[in-house]
Amino acid sequence: MTWTVLAIETSCDETSAAVVRGREVLSNVVSSQIDLHKQWGGVVPEMAARAHVESIVPAYRQALADAQMDQSQIDGIAVTNCPGLVGALSVGVTAAKALSAVWNKPLLGIHHLEGHILSPLAGLVEIPYPHLCLLVSGGHTELIEVLEPFKYKLLGETLDDAAGEAFDKGSRLLGLGYPGGKAIQDAARDGSPKRYSLPRAIQDDPYHFSFSGLKTAVSRLVEREGGKLSIPDAAASLQAAIVESLSSKALAAVEQHGYKGLTLVGGVAANQSLRETLQLECERMGVVFATPEPELCTDNAAMIGIVGSLRFARGDRSDLSLDCFSSAPLP
Ligand code: KG4
Ligand code: ZN
Repeated sequence: MTWTVLAIETSCDETSAAVVRGREVLSNVVSSQIDLHKQWGGVVPEMAARAHVESIVPAYRQALADAQMDQSQIDGIAVTNCPGLVGALSVGVTAAKALSAVWNKPLLGIHHLEGHILSPLAGLVEIPYPHLCLLVSGGHTELIEVLEPFKYKLLGETLDDAAGEAFDKGSRLLGLGYPGGKAIQDAARDGSPKRYSLPRAIQDDPYHFSFSGLKTAVSRLVEREGGKLSIPDAAASLQAAIVESLSSKALAAVEQHGYKGLTLVGGVAANQSLRETLQLECERMGVVFATPEPELCTDNAAMIGIVGSLRFARGDRSDLSLDCFSSAPLP
C-alpha cells in the first residue's frame, strides 16, 4: 500500500505542513518566521515556539485544502520529533498527536536529517546505492553514506561551525543581514571570487570540515579593508571558499569509495554555485547527481512526509508517548 501522509515540521523557524503520497508531494505549505527573527539576527527559540502555535492549524488546513483532500483520505500523520529546538518541535508533535488521536490515524516521529537525506526522492529520480549524501544546513555539515534505503553511516562532519553558519556569520560580518546564505549568493553575483584570499578545507583530514577559521578570516578582512572593502567581491570570495571546501571533500570521498551517486541536501543545497559545481563535476566523473528543487532544500514538511510515507509502509509506528529531542543520532 502507498501511504498518504499528513506531515508536520516545526523543528526551527518554519512552520510547515504537507500532504505526500509515496514520493509524490501533493501539497507543501511553508510559513516562514524570517521577518520575526530578522531583527535579532538569528532564531529566538521562545519566539519560534510561540509563532508555531499561531501557524500550525492554518498550515495543516491549507496543506489539506491544497491537496484537495479531507482527513478521511489521510492514512497517517508524520512529524519531526528530533533534532531541533525542543520548544519548537513540541508544538508540531503536540499537534500531530492531537490529530492522530481525534482522527484515529497512526502516528510516526521522523528524524529531521533523514527528511533532508531522502528529499531528492521527490524528484522521482532513481539514485543508485550505495551513494554519498552531502548534508549542509544551518546546524549540520555531514558526509553520510547511504548504503541502502534507511541504512546510513556517518563518514565525516564539521569539527566546529556548520556550512550554513559560515554563510550566516559571514553575512552578518559583511552587513548583509539574516539569513545569510541567500544574501551572500545575491551579493556575490556581481563580485569576483578571486579578489580576496580566504582559507579552504583542512588538508590532512579527508572527511571532516572546519569553518571557524573562515569566519575569523572574514572578520580580519573587514577590519583590514575598512571602508575600502568591496562587499560583492567579499561575498563572492566567501561563497567560493565554502563551495570549494564542501565540494572538494565530497567529490574526493565519492572517488575514493567508488560511490555511484552523490546527493546534495539541506538549506545550503539551495546555493546555486554549489549546485552547479557538483553537477558539473559529477557529470565529468560519470556519477549520478541529485538535489531537490531549492524550496525542498530549506526546511519543509514535504521531506518529512516522504520519509513518513515510506516508513509507514514498512510498518514503522510511534505511539502517543512520542517525545522531542534536541539531538539524536541518525536512525
Ligand atoms: O535546512 P535549513 O533550512 O535549516 C536547518 O535545518 O538548519 O538550513 C538553513 C541554512 C541557513 O544557514 C541559510 O543561510 C542556508 O541554509 N541557506 C543558504 C541558501 N539558502 C539557505 N546557504 C547558501 N545559499 C543559499 N541560497
Ligand atoms: Zn533542516
